[in-house]
Amino acid sequence: MKTYNVGVLVGSLRKESFNKKVANLLVEVAPKNINFEFIEIGNLPLFDEDLDQGNPPQSWANLREKVTNLDAFLFVTPEYNRSVPAALKNALDIASRPWGQNVWSGKPAAVVSVSIGAIGGFGANHHLRQTLAFLNMPTMAQPEAYVGNAMSIFDENGKLINEESKEFYVNFMQAFAHHIDVNTEK
Ligand code: FNR
Repeated sequence: MKTYNVGVLVGSLRKESFNKKVANLLVEVAPKNINFEFIEIGNLPLFDEDLDQGNPPQSWANLREKVTNLDAFLFVTPEYNRSVPAALKNALDIASRPWGQNVWSGKPAAVVSVSIGAIGGFGANHHLRQTLAFLNMPTMAQPEAYVGNAMSIFDENGKLINEESKEFYVNFMQAFAHHIDVNTEK
């Protein structure tokens, strides 16, 4: 079985983020042929085309290099005002430029949205899919993952309350592994 290196981008920066907890759970239950690397997006200066004239910020160069070297991406995001948090959009924009050097292009992706609301961040999930389509990232269509009522998923020790729901996350990651495989040039 081929091994893949997958970047994980979490749209929330806060320490106790439910999205981070779900991302950790997804990594834990994923097939063992996938290695994960969490990508820090909270330290990136806001995208500004002028900064790409000359020497762009080192953190932008690091992000672009990382994205280039990884095989696929898992996005786990909250919904902010029915859309994608600025920090995540900023990271997407940075590694999509300079023009003609979109390093996301062709890399398979999966989207999970996690919200304390009942509809599980549907708006953010689909705004993100719109951007990923433009970035030419083959994004897994099914299963979809809208994780709602996030405050009732984990106990105070960060453990899954409803162990039966683990099956959903296991299936999702198996499907993602298959999606990466069929969308990666052999
Ligand atoms: C939110 N939240 C939210 N939730 C939702 O379902 N739809 C929304 O449009 C919004 N909008 C929104 C805007 C802003 C600025 C914040 C800070 C929050 C609530 C959100 O789901 C909640 O804060 C989650 O806990 C965020 O995810 P993390 O940080 O726990 O991963």
